[in-house]
Amino acid sequence: MLEMLHSRGSSTSSLNFLGGISEDALPSRPSTTPESEIKIHVDGLDVPLKLAVDAGPGCGGITWPSGEVLTKYMAWRHSNDVNYLKNRTVLELGSGTGLVGLAVGLLEPSAKVYITDQKVLLDLMQRNVDLNFHQHVGPETNGESSACPVQVAELDWGGELPSGIPQEPDLILAADCVYFEADARFFKMLAKHFSSSQVDDDRPGEREKYEREGVKLLRLVRTK
Ligand SMILES: C[S@@+](CC[C@H](N)C(=O)[O-])C[C@H]1O[C@@H](n2cnc3c(N)ncnc32)[C@H](O)[C@@H]1O
Repeated sequence: MLEMLHSRGSSTSSLNFLGGISEDALPSRPSTTPESEIKIHVDGLDVPLKLAVDAGPGCGGITWPSGEVLTKYMAWRHSNDVNYLKNRTVLELGSGTGLVGLAVGLLEPSAKVYITDQKVLLDLMQRNVDLNFHQHVGPETNGESSACPVQVAELDWGGELPSGIPQEPDLILAADCVYFEADARFFKMLAKHFSSSQVDDDRPGEREKYEREGVKLLRLVRTK
């Protein structure tokens, strides 16, 4: 299953989903400002999620409304169904700061979460893993770092799937990776292999709120 957020795009130029993002294709409103460390409250977590943001590496270095909506939804789903994420392999595409995947790993430490993006964002994502998970190295772990539920990996769309990325994750998450109405090619490709529907089990009132902001939350289920 793939949970995906699709946010409003103001531009009419086309985005090659498998090839990258053109500058004029960016979503309309970033949520965070350049170069800061912020704390985000996630329902179900005792301590706020810490996030370093940095506008330097491109649009993914800051957070976007869709990522926040997807994070909230995952926390809501998890609170309603303790098995939803238990022992799941979760792959997040275009993670940027890693917000969504980090929240999933903090909410459900038994999950194996891969936060992925282009090379330029890997340092920031790793910094954010380190800010939220204190990994212990000692004799009892054979000098290896103790298991952290969130792994950072490079995954550039359109290339071969690198080794180390799960071939068949249970859940794929993507927030704000497709921006345009004009992105018909991506949705056409999806329709060949996935059925798609709007998420209708979010916290009451949430969908109305984010839809007013032009954000849609879709669930895609593989059909073949
Ligand atoms: C608007 S940002 C969204 C970031 C994050 N998901 C969020 O919601 O805050 C789009 C993300 O897609 C990533 N991206 C764009 N083209 C990509 C590609 N070809 N391969 C992998 N990631 C890509 C960018 O680096 C960026 O992190």
